[in-house]
Amino acid sequence: MPGLEVAPCAVPEFIDHDDLLSDHKAPPGYRVLGRLGQGAFGEVSRAVSLATGEEVALKHVFPQRAARGCAPAPCNLARELAALQALRHPNVVALRAVLPQGSGRTLVLELCEGDLGDLLRHAPARLDEALAKTLARQLLRGVAHMHGAGFMHRDLKPGNILLARDGALKLADFGLARRNDCPGRAAYSHAVATRWYRAPELLFGARCYGPAVDVWAAGCIIAELLGLDPLFAGDTDIDQLGRIIARLGSVDEACWPGVRALPDYGKLRFAPSPAVPLAAALPDAPAPALDLLGHMLRWNPDERVSAEAALHHEWFLLEPATAPHAVVAEAVAAMQRLRDERRAAQRAEEAAWQEIYGC
Ligand SMILES: Nc1ncnc2c1ncn2[C@@H]1O[C@H](COP(=O)(O)OP(=O)(O)OP(=O)(O)O)[C@@H](O)[C@H]1O
Ligand SMILES: [Mg+2]
Repeated sequence: MPGLEVAPCAVPEFIDHDDLLSDHKAPPGYRVLGRLGQGAFGEVSRAVSLATGEEVALKHVFPQRAARGCAPAPCNLARELAALQALRHPNVVALRAVLPQGSGRTLVLELCEGDLGDLLRHAPARLDEALAKTLARQLLRGVAHMHGAGFMHRDLKPGNILLARDGALKLADFGLARRNDCPGRAAYSHAVATRWYRAPELLFGARCYGPAVDVWAAGCIIAELLGLDPLFAGDTDIDQLGRIIARLGSVDEACWPGVRALPDYGKLRFAPSPAVPLAAALPDAPAPALDLLGHMLRWNPDERVSAEAALHHEWFLLEPATAPHAVVAEAVAAMQRLRDERRAAQRAEEAAWQEIYGC
């Protein structure tokens, strides 16, 4: 998108949470309808364009934010803009405009109905295989497009994957994305990705890594689509590695040449453990899907299948066929209904407690 400018990252070192919210006003030309989400770097609202009547999502991004005593966050606004401007695909959230606002920018994004985290949290039962397969394929299409364009997302997780009303899945939140521009000799930060979806090379402190970190995360997400629970839900980075070892088996030079040279490898000691088939964690998952996951969730990043190659896996060719968009759209609508009912029940309960105890 030509003409979009990125402001230099210059904001106060520490911004109080309340200041952020009070600072957020509807930009000219939009009316805010309600809050959609609140993240580490921004606030997302549902809004309507007064000129066109189109409903959109406004993501107010603060260019740099750091708590007192912590290192400043990377320039998430510049990262997010660079990726969103470069990536145009049905499975990537569309950027409509960028508006200056205070010390940051407001991104005008196509509106989605919720995120994959909502769907997984509010799913009444295990997802139907055709539905899980459809979402997995859309996820891989988005990731393959992003990698083909030379970007790594580095924070794929259900909360950063949106679902549109028509059933389309969209990669979003590119605040940690960066170009994979110097493969083999890069010194990227390993402090990326949310722990449960963090690839082993990041957990071992690698500074040189590639798009395979997203393939690992996508594998964890597909496992969640098949089983509803996070596959590796570690409480700490060490616990996270321990859980991966308990599933994939001990890691050594034999299965991952070069692992001993990773910065944090020698600092950690784990009891030897055999591999346990993924089927034990996902007993209801179809065998071809487990086979695909086996290719995505490899210790050695060089052995992980690429997103593009994963799209050609036989799981996507076998019955049941992927579901039409309308079926996904119905699942999204059902998820919304359930989410809204639960939120209303929670609000009613809070109001009742307030009436009883006055707090
Ligand atoms: N275009 C959109 N349509 C609907 N909801 C959205 C949209 N963009 C974001 N959201 C909601 O807002 C939440 C936060 O957005 P996003 O992940 O982009 O922000 P963030 O500040 O980087 O978040 P975090 O730090 O929590 O990852 C999302 O999880 C999603 O629920
Ligand atoms: Mg997010």
